[in-house]
Amino acid sequence: MCGIIGYSGGENALPILLDGLKALEYRGYDSAGVAVICKNAVRVVKTRGKLESLTQKLKESDFKGSVHCGIGHTRWATHGEPSDLNSHPHGTGCVCIVHNGIIENYASLKSELIGRGAVFSSDTDTEAAALLIDDLYRKCGDPVLSLIKASDRLVGSYAIAAVFRDFPGKVYAMRRDSPLIVALSDKGSFIASDIPAFLKYTNRYIRLDEGEIAVISENGAEFFDREKAPVKKRCETAAWTLEEAEKGGYAHFMLKEIHEEPYAVSQTVGPRVSDDGMPLMGIDELSDEKLAGLQRIHIVACGTAMHAGLVGKNVIEKLAALPTDVEISSEFRYKDPILFEGDLVIVISQSGETADTLGALRLAKSKGAYTLAIVNVIGSSIAREADGVIYTYAGPEIAVASTKAYTVQMSALYMFAIRLAYAKGKLSQKEAKDMTHELLYEIPKAIEKALALEEKCAHIAKKYVNSKDIFFIGRGLDYAMCLEASLKLKEISYIHCEAYAAGEMKHGTISLIEDGVPVFALATSERLLKKTLNNVLEVRSRGASIILAVREGFEADGEICDDVLYVPAVSELFMPFPVSVLLQLIAYHFSLCKGNDVDKPRNLAKSVTVE
Ligand code: M6R
Repeated sequence: MCGIIGYSGGENALPILLDGLKALEYRGYDSAGVAVICKNAVRVVKTRGKLESLTQKLKESDFKGSVHCGIGHTRWATHGEPSDLNSHPHGTGCVCIVHNGIIENYASLKSELIGRGAVFSSDTDTEAAALLIDDLYRKCGDPVLSLIKASDRLVGSYAIAAVFRDFPGKVYAMRRDSPLIVALSDKGSFIASDIPAFLKYTNRYIRLDEGEIAVISENGAEFFDREKAPVKKRCETAAWTLEEAEKGGYAHFMLKEIHEEPYAVSQTVGPRVSDDGMPLMGIDELSDEKLAGLQRIHIVACGTAMHAGLVGKNVIEKLAALPTDVEISSEFRYKDPILFEGDLVIVISQSGETADTLGALRLAKSKGAYTLAIVNVIGSSIAREADGVIYTYAGPEIAVASTKAYTVQMSALYMFAIRLAYAKGKLSQKEAKDMTHELLYEIPKAIEKALALEEKCAHIAKKYVNSKDIFFIGRGLDYAMCLEASLKLKEISYIHCEAYAAGEMKHGTISLIEDGVPVFALATSERLLKKTLNNVLEVRSRGASIILAVREGFEADGEICDDVLYVPAVSELFMPFPVSVLLQLIAYHFSLCKGNDVDKPRNLAKSVTVE
């Protein structure tokens, strides 16, 4: 995730900006840059790569002496690959900005500004915001007003810090749907996207509210509302250590990342919804005409990404009636897969660097298939080599156990399935729009509701933490959920778990059930409810302890289970979203109860770059 720091004060700004960026490194980034005002000019130094490269570039530049005001940024690419030109800050000799978030209408702004003579030098959405602010500033000569006017035109999410050549001792900032904080110290004032950036200097901070403008200077900070009327703000004190602050106050990155899921879904879906509410693929080879001609889909991935693929298979087959296989990358790449003309191969990877998935992608390409990658890391190997890419904008995932990446992979697959079904005439435009609306607006709310059930999840974990074996059973989409729940739980709790299609237990595995073995039964489909409950009875009568997760509104007979989880209700097809959040929270609390290293489970790496 990108990071922002801004400083104005009596000290030399450059070391302070670099310190701030260093403290934001944990968020993950691929490039970095700073802008300061020096001798009546905005001076920018930026580069692809780590802070060491930026420091080196600063040493090599003719950037001498001390400056007292500036902005800095660590970029985690969203629009445009990691490169020197795409790094922040962006702007002109007059106005320069750094930005976190996504400007959804950047393409139309860009053509409008080019029409008025603006010259763009990057592929970023941010540059459209920068040149818009510059354009507005030239007309009104007032930085605050130009930011207010720009916010009327910008669609999407943003935290922006800006410097204006004509106002050398000040940094200006505004935000919408992306955090920004002002901090005050004896040595000057700060603007930052996150508390660690200034914690070395001060723990006194003020949160900027939606739509507000902040102006910092050597003497402190001023705040304005959208009418440019001054706003009084309350100062808070951060009692966090640096490590606590990096996790946003959460005990672990995994928990923080689970809590980021509502936002991550909006970030992934929002930019791909047209003004009239239809999902957009934005890839020529996936035009409606091409989608309508598809004969078969192969989804290839590893681990959690493969489990997202299983959910995708269910949804694609249900909505678009198109046969879809899901394959483990390490199997696919060595099995001489049968691919026909009209087949689409979708590879899914959070990191975009998983060796087996990369190998599978190369094989599919060598056999002439069109390949589409669903990837979280911009410019990663898989993203670069695939024919088309759908990026999931979840921000970096730091915990080894994948949580928010899984949720956004599902979101991308749902969008794809909806558009495909529409292109194939299986969904009307109204149905496609209604589903897209549910994905964009109702799912984040349902995830919030699931997050509110954390205490119940912690209680269940505590009760069953000493189990040696745990089973997950379900049918249809619930079975796909079970596979992921089982992987997550074994990965971080080190307890042996198995996931079974509920109807399959009696064909062998049920012999493992004995007194007190916990069986998590997922039953969120009305059509399959009775069938799953029959399977629950089969294991219960052999001594299993049942933890039943049912959709809110279903009756759960107390006789049939030891614990019940009512999952916040959304349309049946979308139930994987709230269900998976509850299962992730349960896995998290198992690991916590066992005293394991939640974020770094034994024997595992975040990115598996060996086959
Ligand atoms: O980066 P990728 O999505 O390609 O990684 C795939 C798997 O290695 C990954 O999902 C792994 O299973 C997770 N640690 C599970 O939480």
